[in-house]
Amino acid sequence: MKIDIIEEVKSRRTFAIISHPDAGKTTLTEQLLLFGGAIRAAGTVKGKKTGKYATSDWMEIEKQRGISVTSSVMAFDYNDFRVNILDTPGHQDFSEDTYRTLMAVDSAVMIIDSAKGIEAQTLKLFKVCRMRGIPIFTFINKLDRQGREPLELLEELEEVLGIQSYPMNWPIGMGKEFLGIYDRFHNRIEQFRVEEDDRFISLNDEGEIAGEHPLTESGLYQQALEDILLLNEAGNEFSKDRIASGELSPVFFGSALTNFGVQTFLETYLQFAPSPQPRNSDAGEIEPTAEEFSGFVFKIQANMNPAHRDRIAFVRICSGQFERGMTVNLPRTGKPIKLSQSTQFLADDRSTVNEAVSGDIIGVYDTGTYQIGDTLVQGKKNFQYEKLPQFTPELFVRVTARNVMKQKHFQKGILQLVQEGAIQYYKTRTEDIILGAVGQLQFEVFEHRMKNEYNVDVKMESVGSKIARWIENEEDVKDTMSSQRSMLVKDRHGQMVFLFENDFAMRWFQDKHPEIKLYSLL
Ligand code: G4P
Repeated sequence: MKIDIIEEVKSRRTFAIISHPDAGKTTLTEQLLLFGGAIRAAGTVKGKKTGKYATSDWMEIEKQRGISVTSSVMAFDYNDFRVNILDTPGHQDFSEDTYRTLMAVDSAVMIIDSAKGIEAQTLKLFKVCRMRGIPIFTFINKLDRQGREPLELLEELEEVLGIQSYPMNWPIGMGKEFLGIYDRFHNRIEQFRVEEDDRFISLNDEGEIAGEHPLTESGLYQQALEDILLLNEAGNEFSKDRIASGELSPVFFGSALTNFGVQTFLETYLQFAPSPQPRNSDAGEIEPTAEEFSGFVFKIQANMNPAHRDRIAFVRICSGQFERGMTVNLPRTGKPIKLSQSTQFLADDRSTVNEAVSGDIIGVYDTGTYQIGDTLVQGKKNFQYEKLPQFTPELFVRVTARNVMKQKHFQKGILQLVQEGAIQYYKTRTEDIILGAVGQLQFEVFEHRMKNEYNVDVKMESVGSKIARWIENEEDVKDTMSSQRSMLVKDRHGQMVFLFENDFAMRWFQDKHPEIKLYSLL
């Protein structure tokens, strides 16, 4: 079916929600899906939340989900927009996939628990968003509970993350005394726990309630007015351009659990978040509205059904239109592939599923064809999108085959899983194999897949967490620099890497060998 690609692409909003576990990502996602009519009852997403389970239950959960993996990508229509939400799991699910997912989105929504402020996981994910220069929208959650002072939270946001902020709205009280939000952007007040008809109070040109209203008697309202005055005078200026370039984060206050401020947030977000943008390739920038289909694989998820070895490769469409059954070229191998078995992740069955354009995500069934970062292009075109970054792993294990007779399978399995991007590979000088990951789950998936797909039982011994550093001037490295606390290994490309036991060991090494220039990946 022919569609108006320009119009379709303009309507796409593809984002990831980044947050520390428990800040409210699941709750907010669920509310958004409810607005989109994608789910009909609260609790639908919650039941599938992997974080609620121990890591070892993960595979069981995957089985229950079948091949649908619906919670990885959720799409719904709202007003005239097609919204694609990509999951970035926290908890034990955290892995390189989580980071790579951020390569496939055009903006990010950062949720912060108003009682906690910026937490570790948020900071990690934020850095990747920052590197890409994508717009970051902040939702400060749980205002129905007593939290930290809003000004203090903004200050922390700016200091810790190094991003400027613009509060789109401002809380009037909090916790038991939460009265609502002062909406700077719409020049109105949205009252908490007030029926829809009376919920909004419009403000006059001075930004105040005109005439009589019980709220004007409240000290909290007066306090909010004072804060707004301060923000107007001393705060950052609103700038659409600086939001688009990721320099200024619009901040929204609300309460996901009570569904307060969520709709206002969604509508404002849709207005300012970018539609799919051109992407860099080795043939220059590719326009999202270009006629020919193209995309790249950012995640491969194994189907844990032992009877099948297939997996799903998640493809972010970057141009053209996807049609089921179309033939595309895989420039890495030069081979054509027919995309006959594919899924989309539209939760609402009213829409046809053949209209996937730039910004949308499709899942294609994979029997070992794809690697993470692969580009797919229609026709005879042969370009490749920019390489996906490699991330510095933090966890390491030494891995061997339990049965020495299985060496061949063992080597083959490792090679394929490393190529696919499931895990990182290092070799010591004594030819031991060390695997690196950013999240524990990656090891468990590795172990499971080695057994089920390559029929090899592996033995993994933790070598603990290490600090990995690559070396600019490899020629100056001497074998004697390697020790228990600063282990010299090679990565899968043959590049030297030091694995330091801890920060102290790294500093000690640098003091002793100032001539060695170390660097980290992302
Ligand atoms: P996550 O996906 O980011 O890990 O967080 P999730 O949405 O699961 O929320 C974590 C906890 O915070 C949940 O409580 C949830 O109900 C609560 N929560 C989320 N948004 C708000 C909010 O706006 N206000 C308040 N007061 N609480 C909020 P829980 O007790 O851990 O889970 P459950 O037992 O209620 O499912």
